[in-house]
Amino acid sequence: MTLSGIQIAPSILSADFAHLGRDIAAVERGGADLIHVDVMDGHFVPNITIGVPVVKALKKFATRPLDVHLMISEPDRYIDDFANAGADMISVHVEAATHLHRTIGHIKSRGVKAGAVINPATPVTMLEDILADLDFVLVMSVNPGFSGQAFIRHSLDKVRRLREMLHQVGSAAPIEIDGGIDPLTAAEAVSAGASILVAGQAVFGTPDAEAATRALRTVATAVARA
Ligand code: DX5
Ligand code: ZN
Repeated sequence: MTLSGIQIAPSILSADFAHLGRDIAAVERGGADLIHVDVMDGHFVPNITIGVPVVKALKKFATRPLDVHLMISEPDRYIDDFANAGADMISVHVEAATHLHRTIGHIKSRGVKAGAVINPATPVTMLEDILADLDFVLVMSVNPGFSGQAFIRHSLDKVRRLREMLHQVGSAAPIEIDGGIDPLTAAEAVSAGASILVAGQAVFGTPDAEAATRALRTVATAVARA
């Protein structure tokens, strides 16, 4: 898989867990590029969501790559399980990974795209010495744990600075942004340099997830071309 161009990644955290297949089919019809899967352990973040068995089940159903966002302590212990379950992308938080270089190497050794995630209060400089090894970077624009939170505007500045840092190390790795993304913030994020847009409430919190997915792409693509 390649990660170039605008990628729309609906977050199933806001979907109806009793009708996950139906909801995923809707966003795929709407042109979703990735399916964003939020794994939370009730320890690294104050919420518990889903894990390996759900990723395995989704793999049989989804036609788009699975973008697995691990919000868990000690992520190293579960990389193989998620890779075996069919994750196409795995991202780990720098705040949770003690040996980030090893973890990123481990993810890549499984043929999975590897990303590092930073929380709103984590400075972009924390990524300086790992940037060249990353397939993508994920900037949290809310504090992780829940869908439907307000976008933290300072994240846009972080995206801009990261884009420059990536350029400095000769990397074209995409920047993913996650939290409070809707058509307005999506436009701002793309103009700051993000290209993978995660959206939960702005997709599944609407009456028509298919149309909402399409609307995000329309606005993001327009900004990217401008
Ligand atoms: C938050 C998760 C997000 C969340 C985004 O911790 O990582 O992926 O589902 O939801 P919205 O788009 O509603 O902020
Ligand atoms: Zn997420």
